[in-house]
Amino acid sequence: GAAYAAGRGFTAKPGQTMTVPGASGTVVYVGLGSADSVDTTTVRRAAAAAARAASRHGSVALDVLDRLPGAVDPEAAAAAAVEGLVLGAYRFDAHRSEPAPAPLRSVRLVAASGKGMAGAIARGEAIAEAVCWARDLVNEPGGSMTPTEVAARVRALGRRHKLKVSVMDEAAIRKAGMGGLLGVNRGSEQPPRFVKVSYVPDGTSAGTVALVGKGITFDSGGLSIKTAEGMKTMKDDMGGGAAVLAAMAAVSALGVGVTVHAYVPLTDNMTGGDATRPGDVLVIRGGTTVEVLNTDAEGRLVLADALTLATDEAPDAVIDLATLTGACMVALGKGVAGLMGRGDDWLAQVEAASARTGERVWRLPLPDDMRPQLDSKVADLRNIGAGAHGGALIAGLFLREFVGADLPWAHVDIAGPAWSDDASAEVSAGGTGFGVRLLVDLLENFERPTR
Ligand code: BES
Ligand code: MN
Ligand code: ZN
Repeated sequence: GAAYAAGRGFTAKPGQTMTVPGASGTVVYVGLGSADSVDTTTVRRAAAAAARAASRHGSVALDVLDRLPGAVDPEAAAAAAVEGLVLGAYRFDAHRSEPAPAPLRSVRLVAASGKGMAGAIARGEAIAEAVCWARDLVNEPGGSMTPTEVAARVRALGRRHKLKVSVMDEAAIRKAGMGGLLGVNRGSEQPPRFVKVSYVPDGTSAGTVALVGKGITFDSGGLSIKTAEGMKTMKDDMGGGAAVLAAMAAVSALGVGVTVHAYVPLTDNMTGGDATRPGDVLVIRGGTTVEVLNTDAEGRLVLADALTLATDEAPDAVIDLATLTGACMVALGKGVAGLMGRGDDWLAQVEAASARTGERVWRLPLPDDMRPQLDSKVADLRNIGAGAHGGALIAGLFLREFVGADLPWAHVDIAGPAWSDDASAEVSAGGTGFGVRLLVDLLENFERPTR
């Protein structure tokens, strides 16, 4: 079999697959690349490639764990293999009228020693399921995945995973003074929601982390309207919110030892007859006034409300995930998220989680000399910069205004990696669920940052 595959051009490049029919079943060869470069990311990708290649079969046995070089931790590899299998097999078929072909139903993971594997497999499953939950939220169209619907799904998630869920309706949002969220919602027929989800560990807690996610269920740009082309994927504008909410489910399933609160402001950004006009001034929670000169820079407005609330509840660190700027995609491409913030220790923890999970981030600066671009002639701040350049940094500088001065804070701009036009390895087409794995790893390894 292997010789046959090699003869037909199988060179074991990472992710390469070749299917060879055999007497006792079909054999799928999956490339891992050269032995010295194999790590858990390779395993996750290979398992995902295997799941895709085997998708027309009801069951598959995967023996990758017995083929790894000694340097790869067997339990981490087992968890990565399970993640890859589940993520590679993911499909979004909710809106197909033809019944989708029967999916892969059963998987056997073959390993010489099963020691410690049950825990690793459960861990991989919990994380992958959370990623799929986030993908479903993003993939459901903006017209049906409304703020109300997101809140309903979060309530159901909370019941399944013993999480405390509280949902603010429009009246509560007004009472809380969240003028950013209300301002963005003003052009919509759909009422806004603000969801907060809390997890408290059973034993002692190593600290408290606040997760904040952008939850724009559809971004038309508002009156500063996007092009038709630019709007096509804008149901993904709640990818950050979906990721932080999904991470809460995994955190609970894994019994992580830190207290975690997730804050997600939810609205679409529409063009209704009473939509926020360019030039309007909004009052963010806490009193800061913002002149809205571009209604398409809406994410920072809803995040401002959420960040002030998170700050007031005094966590040890905060991290936000947001599909915030096209400029970040220009800078870093589709596959890498921009990382900005305050507090080197905390940002280093984010980078370490990124390295372990293969969800790539890259540090960008928050240059103080760009801050005057946010000065307004009529309000405390304006919501866009003065020039055409450095849009990801301008957005980061804007958010920084709403985070407590000595609170370690990471801002992850996921505009690129939250969405993929094509499927490859563990990345699905459409919403990718980017950030869930990074967040869970970050929380599992959390150490109270030095300030
Ligand atoms: N949701 C978009 C950012 C985005 C663009 C995400 C493309 C994914 C793909 C955000 O709300 C936005 O429109 N940002 C503007 C900001 C600008 C008006 C300062 C942008 O990037 O063009
Ligand atoms: Mn926008
Ligand atoms: Zn947006």
